[in-house]
Amino acid sequence: MAQSIKEILEKKPVGSTLSLNAWVRTFRSNRFIALSDGSCLKTLQAVVDFENFEEPLLRKVTTGAALQLTGDLVSSQGRGQDVELQVTELAVLGESSAEHYPLQPKKHSLEFLREVAHLRMRTNTFGAIMRVRHNLSFAIHQYFHQKGFFNLHTPIITGSDAEGAGEMFNVSILDKKNPPLTPEGAIDYKEDFFGKETNLTVSGQLEAELGAMGLGKVYTFGPTFRAENSNTARHLAEFWMIEPEVAFANLEDNMDLAEDFLKYVIRFALEHCREDLEFLEKRLLDEEKTKPQTERSAMPLLEKLQFVAENNFRRVSYTEAIEILRNSKPNKKKKFQYLIEEWGADLQSEHEKFLVKHFKAPVILFDYPAKIKAFYMRLNEDEKTVRAMDILFPGIGEIVGGSQREERHDVLLAKMKEFNIDEEELSWYLDTRKFGTCEHSGFGLGFERLVLFVTGMGNIRDVIPFPRTPGNAAF
Ligand code: 4AD
Ligand code: MG
Repeated sequence: MAQSIKEILEKKPVGSTLSLNAWVRTFRSNRFIALSDGSCLKTLQAVVDFENFEEPLLRKVTTGAALQLTGDLVSSQGRGQDVELQVTELAVLGESSAEHYPLQPKKHSLEFLREVAHLRMRTNTFGAIMRVRHNLSFAIHQYFHQKGFFNLHTPIITGSDAEGAGEMFNVSILDKKNPPLTPEGAIDYKEDFFGKETNLTVSGQLEAELGAMGLGKVYTFGPTFRAENSNTARHLAEFWMIEPEVAFANLEDNMDLAEDFLKYVIRFALEHCREDLEFLEKRLLDEEKTKPQTERSAMPLLEKLQFVAENNFRRVSYTEAIEILRNSKPNKKKKFQYLIEEWGADLQSEHEKFLVKHFKAPVILFDYPAKIKAFYMRLNEDEKTVRAMDILFPGIGEIVGGSQREERHDVLLAKMKEFNIDEEELSWYLDTRKFGTCEHSGFGLGFERLVLFVTGMGNIRDVIPFPRTPGNAAF
């Protein structure tokens, strides 16, 4: 394989002859080609002497065209680069019709780039985001592997909808116009592919718990699907989630793990994605110049990441948080859209962001009211709260949701009855509480929320290659 621009710019083998394949970013003065191959942010400058090449060939060197080049790497006299490629051989592998190519060498809006998502990974911004995304994904696997966790592949098609994490997408091969019906007139899913109604999963947790009961420490990292109609900058209908699950671990262990894990992956990005993060930081600073002072973030991107990686998260109980919110200025002045009146209120994104600003640090909220959390969370002695935890991040709000699980068979069963969950359907889940049950805990990290935080981007649609949101499944 030919060398990548990243390798060439790292090694800078001045004096050697190189071959490479790359795309044209710009072609100036019929002489200087800025080349990109996606391996890194920087472009490689190639210099062509037009006496050596036919005019019709050079006319095909347009923005976006794919080239194969051979040349000598030399020290550059010009500003902006140390080395450049003195081209001796040039072939245009794929032409790019200059007037139709949507990515002109100028600044495009993020909204426009979403419409050409099939090409946007060729821009500096999306190249940087996708390289950071990859590094975070790699760091996540590395972290868990080093800590002795096993990666468990939980199913994507599921027959249970008991998690209650959100609306589900139905998976069916029945004839939509003329489905088989039961005597009562409902759709007869017994006739369907799996002989029962199935959906796309909203979480791998319940199966991860089964894994933890055999393997001790497991994690999932897979796509999850939620058919909620939330058109926000933080919600996707298809997103990736990381869900560790640990046997013999309580909520404190769970908080320690989540905090250590988040700091590790952020430090990894700081170490391995410096160039891309510096570029994204600059992009953000430029963007923020157009915003009013009050909407700008308090810290530049790298400083913010460093801060989170080096400082303790604040651990605050739900009850304590409600008191702070109730007495807060925006609540008293009725500035919150949802006013906090009493204990038991569900927290909205505006409240989560307020708490993070109040503590000037990531916050781990724990011991939520049982009524607003899932059935599987362990009930506290007070019988009002459960051992839940949410981690709130600056500018993002909730990034992690998790809990200690209810390991007591009778308590879990009672809870399922209260939540109207079919005992029969979840008999396999209940079985773990019958045979060698133990304390266990886990959490879910929304991968795109993490990428959003680390890249400093403002919209979740811009940190996944091809976003799925209400009304949009293009590409
Ligand atoms: O809080 P959630 O719903 O928790 C669960 O699904 C648990 N089963 C996790 C567990 O304990 N194993 O989702 C976990 C995280 C959220 O904190 C958020 O970061 C992310 O998943 N998330 C979304 N990200 C993008 N788009 C959406 N629609 C999301 N919904 C949740
Ligand atoms: Mg949650």
